[in-house]
Amino acid sequence: MAYTALYREFRPKTFSEMVGQDHITKTLKNQIIADRVGHAYLFNGGRGTGKTSAAKILARAINCLNPKDGEPCNECEICKGILSGSITDVVEMDAASNNSVEDIRSIREEVNFLPTIAKYRVYIIDEVHMLSTGAFNALLKTLEEPPEHVKFILATTEPQKLPATILSRCQRFDFKRISNEDIIKRLKIVCNEAKIEITEEALNTIAILSEGAMRDALSILERCVQDGIQNIDDNYIKDLVGIPKLVYIKQIMTGILNYNVEQVLENANTVLAEGKDITNFTWELIKFAKDLLIYKTSKKLELYSKEELDEIDKICKEADKDRLLSIVYNLSELANNIKTSSQKTIIFQAGLIKLCNKEQGNTNSDLERRIEILEERLANGNLQVKSQPKTNIQQPKEQQSAQHFVQEDNKDVKTKEEKKPASNGEQSTISRKMA
Ligand SMILES: Nc1ncnc2c1ncn2[C@@H]1O[C@H](COP(=O)(O)OP(=O)(O)O)[C@@H](O)[C@H]1O
Ligand SMILES: [Mg+2]
Ligand SMILES: [Zn+2]
Repeated sequence: MAYTALYREFRPKTFSEMVGQDHITKTLKNQIIADRVGHAYLFNGGRGTGKTSAAKILARAINCLNPKDGEPCNECEICKGILSGSITDVVEMDAASNNSVEDIRSIREEVNFLPTIAKYRVYIIDEVHMLSTGAFNALLKTLEEPPEHVKFILATTEPQKLPATILSRCQRFDFKRISNEDIIKRLKIVCNEAKIEITEEALNTIAILSEGAMRDALSILERCVQDGIQNIDDNYIKDLVGIPKLVYIKQIMTGILNYNVEQVLENANTVLAEGKDITNFTWELIKFAKDLLIYKTSKKLELYSKEELDEIDKICKEADKDRLLSIVYNLSELANNIKTSSQKTIIFQAGLIKLCNKEQGNTNSDLERRIEILEERLANGNLQVKSQPKTNIQQPKEQQSAQHFVQEDNKDVKTKEEKKPASNGEQSTISRKMA
């Protein structure tokens, strides 16, 4: 048997096989049933969410000799011909490589001819935002007055790059990122049919890694299959994509929380020695700290096993919220520094050491701890105070009162801002990523 990539082999052939886009497939089926199919569609959405698949199904459904409930039968002569590519009335064009005026002009000439055997000639134009300005103009003329027997399905990941004139002539459907639940549902069907054995946790990990793109989920699965693994489990996938194991992440996080620099560095070095990518690694740490925060506030976390949740519960009991917040912020700053550095390992290790330094923090609890240390030193008599030179400079009145206000009202927020003037943009990036 010839080898086909999983994602092609398992391209949904009916609307009902598609997952996560019910709002779209339902409308399309209704239009087909009511014989009210539009002449131009725009399928918008991230990669691997089903735009091309839906376009192909639609192209068959409107040409099928025995459509059922708005679905193509995939058995009649027309469906089969379109599926095998022997019927040329359904044309797929990739605008990324055919973006010139000539490419579109040839479509404009072609549309005047009747389809060979199908009812409609269907043009599926992928990555339509890549067309040149001239090509857009040429396309516009055809979209304005397409012959009865012609349908257009345009697909794009970047609708904001399309001229308004094109947008206004199409029925637009927005394909959503596919939920982890739906990805797992589809993966299970694929694994079952392809006789792939895989654990529930592994499916979960694949779903998280693919971030809403079904194609990515199938590609990860494919890599496991190609390696000839019989029973795919969670650790195998994490190894494959270079994610450090949760054990290490947990050790590092508890190390940071306890200011135990040896524990942190030892575990970090183990992960690095396995050749994991530092950027991914840092993100895993951020994600874990963020998850601890979420758990602390809501007692709910979806992506962990029962045993893992028990451990998370234990860690959370001892960790305080401000401290976790500051860890997330500091790690995000570290992630940024790593991105721009040519000495990633050093920056990474130095960042971890800094996180384990009790006296560095600025959160309420950090400050409390710093006061504690000072009090301890005072009590032990080992605090040396250097005498401060007196300043005679008078501050202007307004400034004095403004400062007064800040100090009374919001003391440590002000301190934080003064110390890190650049951290604002950073914070909003994190909250976006966390959302
Ligand atoms: N909504 C979906 N339901 C089921 N499988 C999907 C879905 N979206 C994508 N896939 C899988 O991913 C592959 C690529 O999808 P495709 O329709 O080409 O995505 P897009 O055109 O949006 O990039 C398909 O062959 C199919 O295996
Ligand atoms: Mg596509
Ligand atoms: Zn058919």
